[in-house]
Amino acid sequence: MGEVRVVVFRELMRGEVPSTKYVTHGIYYYPAKFIPQVVRYAIVNYSGVGGWVEDPFAGSGTTCVESLLTGRNCLAMDINPLTEFLVRVKTLALPIGVRDARREVRRALDKAMSYGGEPFRPDWGRALYWYREDVFEELCRLWGFVHSIREEYVRLILSVGLLKVSRRFSFTDDQIPKLYRSKVKAERIKELLSGDWRGRMRRMFRSEALKAFKKVAKLNKLMKGREWPEVRVVTGVDAASTDPPIRADLVITSPPYLIAHEYFRSTKLELYWLGYSEKEVKKLARKEIPYNKPPKTAIKSRTYLEYRDKVAAKKPHLLRYYDTYFHTILTALQRHSPRKGGVMTVFIGPATLAGIPIPVHDIIREQFEANGYEHIETLIDAIAARKIFTGRKNNNPNGITHEYLLIMRAS
Ligand SMILES: C[S@@+](CC[C@H](N)C(=O)[O-])C[C@H]1O[C@@H](n2cnc3c(N)ncnc32)[C@H](O)[C@@H]1O
Repeated sequence: MGEVRVVVFRELMRGEVPSTKYVTHGIYYYPAKFIPQVVRYAIVNYSGVGGWVEDPFAGSGTTCVESLLTGRNCLAMDINPLTEFLVRVKTLALPIGVRDARREVRRALDKAMSYGGEPFRPDWGRALYWYREDVFEELCRLWGFVHSIREEYVRLILSVGLLKVSRRFSFTDDQIPKLYRSKVKAERIKELLSGDWRGRMRRMFRSEALKAFKKVAKLNKLMKGREWPEVRVVTGVDAASTDPPIRADLVITSPPYLIAHEYFRSTKLELYWLGYSEKEVKKLARKEIPYNKPPKTAIKSRTYLEYRDKVAAKKPHLLRYYDTYFHTILTALQRHSPRKGGVMTVFIGPATLAGIPIPVHDIIREQFEANGYEHIETLIDAIAARKIFTGRKNNNPNGITHEYLLIMRAS
């Protein structure tokens, strides 16, 4: 077994990665995003300039932004089509100079405000549960304009702004990713929709789109004079049953947590406004962990069996989640292995089932060691670790707040 080190994830690569939201990282919300510092650490230490990096559970595309900034090509795959949109906007190469592009974005925003063409109506049966009718109609009008924009970079930037508006002006709580009508939001929306709400909506659209543009412009300034690496995105595919089109030199990924966030439930509003139908979203959501039926793989980890028994003894009905989870992520990671001699890095978030902290990192390591991989190192986040050892009021006294970065070399 390789080294195990306790470090502060946020302080890795200090000087190179100034914050978790720098450049385009913070352009839009996505649940359980990577800390870019961790991705940078893996890329700089385990891949070369001009090589390929893959993330089969790419989510919001943190891996792609870091690959771009360090001169690596990137392949992003995810079951959720929102990944396509987020990766495109976060790695956007402006086709013209920053000043001219800003002028075009401003011009498009002016046009949006007076647009009288075809509205865009999302395929979303319960839309009027989430919006007041006149607000919904105004959003359909604005989205009608945004979807009609031919220039991709202008369309992407305006879409970011309008997605933020579409969330804020809905009845869903802004603090909770899943669609949820809360009392707090009911109060907020009453205020937001009083008086000249159309003016407020337009101002917010303009300011959010310009903020998004500023982040994209920052990325383009940083990349000036450098070769723009290739970024490929494949979405709507289940990682456990789809091979990557490229064998990467480095795989860096963060599979869903054991008790998974439901990414589709958290991103439905965005998907409908971007033009995905309810039917498509439902179909894909069935392939998301923990609702999917994964292909079975031979699990060779002893720790897997040991903890399987513990879960079975305490809450047998939860075994289904345990098995689905490990068969999915282990099959997926095996399918998305890097080339021979390449490196696989897996970020693992806190995991507990039936009140039992599950050592997901050990299970993955044992499985890959049995497949002939060499364990290079495991990093444990000191901040998460400290929370446990201080013994203060803590809902997770058994160590489930740990975060791990597991690094292994393919034989
Ligand atoms: C922890 S998130 C990844 C977040 C990403 N590291 C980032 O920085 O944004 C896990 C991702 O796994 C995806 N996912 C869940 N089940 C999947 C499956 N069966 N195949 C492919 N992706 C899946 C989810 O859509 C989600 O984007």
